[in-house]
Amino acid sequence: MRKLLIDTDPGIDDAIALLFALNAAGLDVSAITTVAGNIGLETTTRNALRVLAVGGQEVPVIPGAAAPLHRPGIRELAVHGADGLGGVALPEPLAVPQHGDAVGYLADLLMQHGPDTHDLLALGPLTNLAGLIREVPGAARRLGQVIAMGGALEEAGNVGPHSEFNFANDPEAVEIVLTAGLDLTLIPLDVTRKLRADAAFMDRLTRAGTPQALAVRDLIGAYFVPSAAGAAPPTSRPLHDLCVPVLALVPDFFDVVPAQFGVDCSQGPDAGALVPGIHKVKTAVGNRAGAVLDLVVEEMC
Ligand code: RIB
Ligand code: CA
Repeated sequence: MRKLLIDTDPGIDDAIALLFALNAAGLDVSAITTVAGNIGLETTTRNALRVLAVGGQEVPVIPGAAAPLHRPGIRELAVHGADGLGGVALPEPLAVPQHGDAVGYLADLLMQHGPDTHDLLALGPLTNLAGLIREVPGAARRLGQVIAMGGALEEAGNVGPHSEFNFANDPEAVEIVLTAGLDLTLIPLDVTRKLRADAAFMDRLTRAGTPQALAVRDLIGAYFVPSAAGAAPPTSRPLHDLCVPVLALVPDFFDVVPAQFGVDCSQGPDAGALVPGIHKVKTAVGNRAGAVLDLVVEEMC
């Protein structure tokens, strides 16, 4: 069973991904580190604790970066709401965050365990991982694989024309992660937009009936915000971050190919966009969305 470190900015789709990782039989979540992204750090940290309270699970939650390395952050309040969870009535936290910060906690944990014992799943801006690489490179090199939701290849960006939210938030952090020589797999919008939840999927979660299944259903329901005032609500919503723990558990559900990228670190409208480059990574280019959704229901029962 792979031990997971999850770095996240919950966020509705982060919360769905966390619930899957916490309930999937083949995944073992060792720690959750939080980062500012969809909403501020205090709220992303509180939301991670609220997700844990759904199943009463005790996993250390450690706050990380409150802002990107070198530029102001971007917020997604229109999508995730003022509480970062679309107003979904998850339980109040049953625990408090760990003392200290994410980089120090991750460094200590990785140095205490053998190399390649922990994988890191990145669901938000890469500021915490970049901090670990810069400040404690020996610890970062002990990571197993790193799987990050971020970037866009042929798909239109959701911040700039070609830039995706997590990478647009902290392009300098992306540059540090791309050049660190990690076993890094990116899951871009091209793939995550193909994993979509609709009313039929929500009905399947209702029938599953467990607290975690009903929480995922309610979070998806809150995600159905119209794209603009007066617009018709969408009939399905992308489950971006959920792709990350699913790929960690069942890599065969994704087509992954070698790639080489750089990142736009300008101050322009496409800051954070992936550009042709020399840094060798892997990128997902396809998924078996039906099988993924079947697995989610199965693991939520
Ligand atoms: O672009 C999608 C990403 O941005 C997801 O991680 C979602 O949580 C938002 O933060
Ligand atoms: Ca996220």
